[in-house]
Amino acid sequence: MAKLVINDIEEKNRIAPEIYGHFSEHLGRCIYEGLYVGEKSDIPNVNGMRKDVVEALKEIDVPVLRWPGGCFADEYHWKDGIGDKSKRKKIINTHWGGVVEDNSFGTHEYFELCKQLGCKTYINGNLGSGTVQEMSEWVEYMTFKGVSPMAELRKKNGHEEPWKVDYFGVGNENWGCGGNMTPDFYANMYRRYQTYVRNYDPEKPIQKVCCGANVDDYHWTKHVLNTCYDHTPEQLHGFMDHISLHYYVHPEGWDIKGSATDFSEECWYKTLKKALYMDTLINRHSSIIDQYDPDKKVGLSVDEWGTWFTCEPGTNPGFLYQQNTMRDALVAGITLNIFNKHCDRVKMACIAQMVNVLQAVILTEGEKMIKTPTYYVFHMYRHHQGAKLLESSLSGINEIGECEWIVPEITESVSKKDDIVTITLNNLSATDKKDLDISFVTGKEYEVVEANIVTSSDMHAHNTFDSPEVVKEITFKNYKTVKNGLKVTIPACSVVEIRVR
Ligand code: AHR
Repeated sequence: MAKLVINDIEEKNRIAPEIYGHFSEHLGRCIYEGLYVGEKSDIPNVNGMRKDVVEALKEIDVPVLRWPGGCFADEYHWKDGIGDKSKRKKIINTHWGGVVEDNSFGTHEYFELCKQLGCKTYINGNLGSGTVQEMSEWVEYMTFKGVSPMAELRKKNGHEEPWKVDYFGVGNENWGCGGNMTPDFYANMYRRYQTYVRNYDPEKPIQKVCCGANVDDYHWTKHVLNTCYDHTPEQLHGFMDHISLHYYVHPEGWDIKGSATDFSEECWYKTLKKALYMDTLINRHSSIIDQYDPDKKVGLSVDEWGTWFTCEPGTNPGFLYQQNTMRDALVAGITLNIFNKHCDRVKMACIAQMVNVLQAVILTEGEKMIKTPTYYVFHMYRHHQGAKLLESSLSGINEIGECEWIVPEITESVSKKDDIVTITLNNLSATDKKDLDISFVTGKEYEVVEANIVTSSDMHAHNTFDSPEVVKEITFKNYKTVKNGLKVTIPACSVVEIRVR
């Protein structure tokens, strides 16, 4: 019999809400059309931000939003995106589709969006092609309260008060699109640039994010930390609050990737196996970071993750627009459970990307909007934000899969906040339901306060603009409370949330 034992005696680390963060880049229809339509649009908007999208995003409690890239960040010159919109420079978005970027969404619009969402801010600076002065002036423009050229410019552009920048990334993927640097070269650049990311308001310190590795490039993590580490962990901590990691799941590899909606059962397991690899990556990068920061003050920020499939037929390949099925829901459920379990080191993560790009939580078409299966996983898992992790262990779980793509039947994570225990479970089987006995170490009798599920009998199930509710979150009823626990039957291909008090 499969069992899940939950240690409800000892509360472990706090799950940083920012693990449930999002990423929005000037890429395809993420910012333009997806989030921002402009004040004059017929699509209902508040100060240019789509009302329907903002409303939907507020329901999943977005904790932080990373912007403006991505690869776009290292070519972005922030002064192009301020002041009178009719006079803003039009540039070519060289990375993404070669389209015209009219800069109508810039710094002021980003902070307006974050205000509407009620989320923290994460600006990614330009180290690849920008100067130290440019980066330092951006920080001054955004955060300085007193009298200075940049603060005056901000006021002239209509914003008297400074904003709060919660996180500032010093470059993006500088091993690749951000300048093709070696780790030592980047680390020395990082040391220099981060010096000028000033904390003008000591009460609102900016957390600095150093560019970390691509997938399993442990050499990068090691060398960047080594070059930034002079004497003590405290000194390193003065230089950086986070180091990033980027990992995307493309089932058939980078060149082929594979269709978002048309896939075999073998590919289902291959995708989930690749999602599970996040655990190995976090373990291995963390063990390197531990050598320089044993007290775990530097967070590992997985600020780009998600599925990356072949774009939808007929769409601009540079726009990275893809559909989102139950398979994406499982990738999200598996990954978020992994982040929860590593909350001692993983302090932030941003799914790529928020709207219309890669593993989006929302898709739009003109005035229409749909919530994807991934959206509903974020909606259920929001209860983990800021909760304390509880230790949980599974036994009697079989290995399933096709060919060499072998995965466990179930993955889980458990947390506690305000006396409510939230259990999130994934059934990775495409075909078989699973019975599970859940028990608690204290023997305390709990009652279920809420239980929800995202599932389908078809692993390809997804929402379209004509059928927007094929997959959605519904009440979960397949459980029975028994002495010291629960008996649960988890349907195949599902993500479940059970909350008990
Ligand atoms: O999210 C799409 C792209 O993936 C980002 O711009 C880049 O950082 C990564 O390679």
